[in-house]
Amino acid sequence: MRIDKFLSNMGYGSRKEVKVLLKSKAVEVNGQAVRDPKVHVDETADIVTVGGEKVDYTEFIYLLMNKPQGVISATEDKYDQTVIDLLGEAEQNFEPFPVGRLDKDTEGFLLITNDGKLAHELLSPKKHVDKKYFALIDGVVTEEDGDAFRRGVMLDDGYVTKPAVLEILKSGEQSEIQLTITEGKFHQVKRMFQSVGKEVTYLKRLSMGPLELDPNLQLGEYRHLAEEELEALKQRK
Ligand code: URA
Repeated sequence: MRIDKFLSNMGYGSRKEVKVLLKSKAVEVNGQAVRDPKVHVDETADIVTVGGEKVDYTEFIYLLMNKPQGVISATEDKYDQTVIDLLGEAEQNFEPFPVGRLDKDTEGFLLITNDGKLAHELLSPKKHVDKKYFALIDGVVTEEDGDAFRRGVMLDDGYVTKPAVLEILKSGEQSEIQLTITEGKFHQVKRMFQSVGKEVTYLKRLSMGPLELDPNLQLGEYRHLAEEELEALKQRK
């Protein structure tokens, strides 16, 4: 991998900024100053230092995004902006993808990574990873709806959902709820409410497994997972 890409991936700025860094002679590879951005390094064997500090290369990236409405949970799209378009160049260099999909009009917690194995495990129906949503519902949500969701409801394609937990925060003409599901069927929350004759008018994902949406993240913002968060996710504590 080129040294400029290596350093950009490791958070030393854009390729342009890295070029300036290289010119300043702050970068050494195996003890030799390197100024040429085209020089190749073996990220698993070469020792790269910046200002004397060793740079440890990491293969995987784990980001937590507060997904805004109007953006697609995909790596590319012909018409719409994707969640990957919201990332900086350094993060995009890792070729990450969203773990599962949130609808275009759904906001909230989205994990973005290039760790295919972890993504696969989190999405596997066998692993039953909890996903918690907040929703505004057009219609009066009742305890009977909660009972139905606990038992499982039939969606429009005949699929019967696994037990889900409904918490009614406010019941009225427009209700406020939280719903925890362990699956990720297409439009699942919306279709579950459709099955009891109600419509979801706003949907936000609050959590996935042990991880929660960070209240400090504005819509469209993201941050790297902390080490403890990644550990908890891997162990699904
Ligand atoms: N359920 C939905 O209906 N939409 C989402 O985006 C996520 C879960």
